[in-house]
Amino acid sequence: MSLDTPWVEKYRPQAFDEIVSQSIAINNLKNFVKTTNLPHLILTGPAGTGKTSTALIIARSFLKKEQFDTNLLELNASDTVRIDFVRSTLKNFVNQTLIKNGSLKFVILDEADNIPGQVQQALRRIIEKTSNNIKFILLCNYINRIIDPIISRCAVFRFVSLPKEKIIERLKFIAGKEKLKIPSDDTGEFYDQLFFISGGDLRKAINALQMAVALDLLDNLDINEILKISGFLDNKTLEILIEALKNRNFTKSREIIESIEILDSRNFIRQILEILPSMNINTEKNAKLKTFIGEIDYRISQGADEQIQISALLAMIIKNIQS
Ligand SMILES: Nc1ncnc2c1ncn2[C@@H]1O[C@H](COP(=O)(O)OP(=O)(O)OP(=O)(O)O)[C@@H](O)[C@H]1O
Ligand SMILES: [Mg+2]
Repeated sequence: MSLDTPWVEKYRPQAFDEIVSQSIAINNLKNFVKTTNLPHLILTGPAGTGKTSTALIIARSFLKKEQFDTNLLELNASDTVRIDFVRSTLKNFVNQTLIKNGSLKFVILDEADNIPGQVQQALRRIIEKTSNNIKFILLCNYINRIIDPIISRCAVFRFVSLPKEKIIERLKFIAGKEKLKIPSDDTGEFYDQLFFISGGDLRKAINALQMAVALDLLDNLDINEILKISGFLDNKTLEILIEALKNRNFTKSREIIESIEILDSRNFIRQILEILPSMNINTEKNAKLKTFIGEIDYRISQGADEQIQISALLAMIIKNIQS
């Protein structure tokens, strides 16, 4: 059992057939890489679903090992804030083509949806002007944040959230390879919780598994501790909170939240959504409440004060619970 390398890297798929799920995208891509004139590509979809892994597989399927350094450029959105940097980096990369005539080169642009609009415009011109043997692979979570002229120059492949059974299958595969001993009575719940933590993001699931092993939480399987280290409320605290909310006790519920050392607000929101059905809230109010919770989640994602937003959330739940 090795803990030195992150398992997400150790078990990063190296071939199309190792990519779990995503059969539509992968089958089409397999055909695309056989064509002589590969288009530029956009791989879009939620976090931890295999986009970066797939982009690397595509690039490597065209390159010899010794070309990986020279013919593959990986850029992140944060590198693109300075457009002159992008220009000079790309220019250098493109100009080196002359070394080996005809061999393909790849630019993988990660988090392309975080690239500012003006830089995207510049990029579009760079894409237009580069020769046929430079292929761009753009990766993003939200394709609607990419400008149309770029989208229209690319073939788009959509990646989907991994279903529970696929996530668990992959975790079991890794557990097998690492010879992990998971107490058989609790195996089901263990994997269920890892899936909940992941929210469909296989990277998160694998990280949670490795963390559980690193912290020695497997032998006397401590699921609550695993939840806590992953930034969720443990089940006991969650139960106390449900009680406080049902009793419409704002002060108490606020105290419970404040007592938690590290609260990841957006994880907490996912847990709240999960427990909502067990609250006494009528259907119509429930629908409105969910919209409100979605708004809170959005505000937090945009940097709003988490304490204030979570307080507002608790207050709103209490307001909607039937007395
Ligand atoms: N479909 C998949 N099949 C097999 N492993 C996967 C898959 N998706 C993710 N993984 C695992 O999760 C890790 C992260 O995947 P990857 O970097 O490809 O995700 P991503 O879609 O690029 O995510 P992000 O949007 O956060 O960049 C991989 O190293 C791999 O271990
Ligand atoms: Mg990625």
